[in-house]
Amino acid sequence: MTETRLPNIEACVFDAYGTLFDVNAAAAHKAEQLGDKWQPLAELWRAKQLQYTWLRALMDRHADFWQVTGDALDFAMSSLGIEDAALREELMELYLRLDAYPEAKRTLETLKAGGKKLAILSNGSPAMLQSAVENAGLGDVLDAVYSVESVGIYKPHASVYDLAVKGLGLEPDRISFQSSNAWDAFGARNFGFRVVWINRFGQAAERLPETPDAMISDLTGLPSIVLSD
Ligand code: LAC
Repeated sequence: MTETRLPNIEACVFDAYGTLFDVNAAAAHKAEQLGDKWQPLAELWRAKQLQYTWLRALMDRHADFWQVTGDALDFAMSSLGIEDAALREELMELYLRLDAYPEAKRTLETLKAGGKKLAILSNGSPAMLQSAVENAGLGDVLDAVYSVESVGIYKPHASVYDLAVKGLGLEPDRISFQSSNAWDAFGARNFGFRVVWINRFGQAAERLPETPDAMISDLTGLPSIVLSD
């Protein structure tokens, strides 16, 4: 926990998967069918999904997040010896309507009432993000949803974070960026945002350049950090 206050913030920009939406929810909803494989599947699916974003960026072979998410699921299912085409389709379908974390909506509403502009900035494709936002009922509080598809490369490339700067018309230091993905939090700080790392998973700090301005364990503490001025 931290007592940090970030003054002069005009907009709060959120990572989507893992930060607002529970990335493990799709596999969790199939826990009965998957048995003790649901957690290893969820973890491997997520880890591979992220690896593929970084690898594709380095290979200059972009494919959208829906494709990457499906490829990662295929790898994870194959690794765990799960061969079930119907289950694969169900898991992908569930990924379109992941549960929002319980405190997400309330926190966004508090920030909105405090005068902050609110946006999502995510690897997700526009269709995936629209579906997740609608499913969680977050459409009314968000001013914008930015997808990496506008620039065709994944986080932590600077051109992705710059989408929010250009879109909101604000300098990076007037924007607080929130992510539960440590590498994303460090990447966004390196770009120049003020960053609150939502360390839901109790991860160790990355050994990467720059350090997030603050760290909290879920979104509940965010308003007291950015609504302090
Ligand atoms: C996103 C991934 C990184 O939403 O969680 O951009």
